[in-house]
Amino acid sequence: MEFLRLLLVFLHFIGLAVLIGAFVAQVSGRPTDGGFTVTAGMWHGALTQLVTGLALVGLREAALDLPVDNAKIGVKLVVLIAILVLVIIGRRRNLAPGAFMAIGLLSVLNVGIAVFWV
Ligand code: HEM
Repeated sequence: MEFLRLLLVFLHFIGLAVLIGAFVAQVSGRPTDGGFTVTAGMWHGALTQLVTGLALVGLREAALDLPVDNAKIGVKLVVLIAILVLVIIGRRRNLAPGAFMAIGLLSVLNVGIAVFWV
């Protein structure tokens, strides 16, 4: 079970890297006429964060009897849902710069919450 937790943490970090990496790749590209394009990497990265994050909460509480900071996880979940909403809209049409930048800022915010909220 501990190995499964470490595997999920590993995938949680891969999802984080894919989400922010795909975002940075788009920022460094020139915006198209209709704004910034949300790529599949951003969608898959955000989805990976949701799936692995929820699995980690379940595993810690149900199988490992490890504490979960519900307030911290709740805030991270709300931030990720905001990211997902923007990403889903962005998969249908290009986003205005402000909405697109919000995806990156919210993603970095969640890294900050994960690390500094102790
Ligand atoms: C963009 C979204 C997210 C990012 C960037 C992110 C980032 C991180 C990072 C850097 C860690 C390792 C530091 C730590 O242990 O606190 C972590 C751990 C964790 N995250 Fe996330 N996270 C995100 C979303 C979520 C969501 C939505 C959930 C749950 C619904 C979640 C649940 C967890 C849990 C339970 C841990 C602790 C894992 C353990 O050590 O057992 N995360 N996250």
